Amino acid sequence: MFYNGHMKVIHLNEINSTNDYVKKNISELDHLTFVYSDRQTSGRGRLQRTWVDSGDENLFLTIVIKPENKSKFPYANFTQYLCVILSLVLEEDYNLIPQIKWPNDVLINGKKIAGILAEGSVRGGELVGLALGIGVNLNTTHDKLLKIDKPATSIFNEIGTVTDKTVFLEKLYNKFCLLYDKFVCEGFTSIKNSFEKRAMFIGKQISINVLGEIHEGIAVGVTDEGSLILKEGTKKNIYYIGDIL
Ligand code: BTN
Repeated sequence: MFYNGHMKVIHLNEINSTNDYVKKNISELDHLTFVYSDRQTSGRGRLQRTWVDSGDENLFLTIVIKPENKSKFPYANFTQYLCVILSLVLEEDYNLIPQIKWPNDVLINGKKIAGILAEGSVRGGELVGLALGIGVNLNTTHDKLLKIDKPATSIFNEIGTVTDKTVFLEKLYNKFCLLYDKFVCEGFTSIKNSFEKRAMFIGKQISINVLGEIHEGIAVGVTDEGSLILKEGTKKNIYYIGDIL
């Protein structure tokens, strides 16, 4: 572990999943520690999917989140927070134009560049923290991207230059901490504008899968809690979970 003044980082060579590592060691880990691994042997994605390790030139990271005030803590919106933070880094430091796909995918030119997965860590029946995981395709080459089952891209694929993993990590860390207090205090409303501005699905006819059920309609926007508002016929319905197809 190294601590360069302000940033707490644990760098692993290989692990099954950085999310599992954080969940297992949550009691010993400090709030806002960034745990990353060069290789991940069984990385997990949302909805029982896997997150393929496409080489140590990419980022496999889990952020340790331990709430100070457990009753008023925006647990459900951390993936959206990270999605906005990543978008800001990609825009400001890499000149990219990220699009957000509800609930928390980040795309460039319609192709996925990162995946985010938050998991609760429970001790004695009580939620003690979150393992906020993110995989970012930094330097995956075009050939390797074609092997991923869904359209995917990387920073390298978009801008043609190699991204230094530790530099990227520091940029992400700085942005994450900069807007953190406001986010914890105000919840999703503090990032709602930033989220909606980049939300490519708003105003469009979409289909969503909610626990195996398909719903179709026009995405009107998101609520102050980050849920999707879908206009189905004349009725507006609100969805807390699901996936845009
Ligand atoms: C998804 O899009 O389905 C979410 C993918 C999340 C992948 C990251 S990589 C680091 C962390 N450890 C894991 O096992 N998963 C997350």
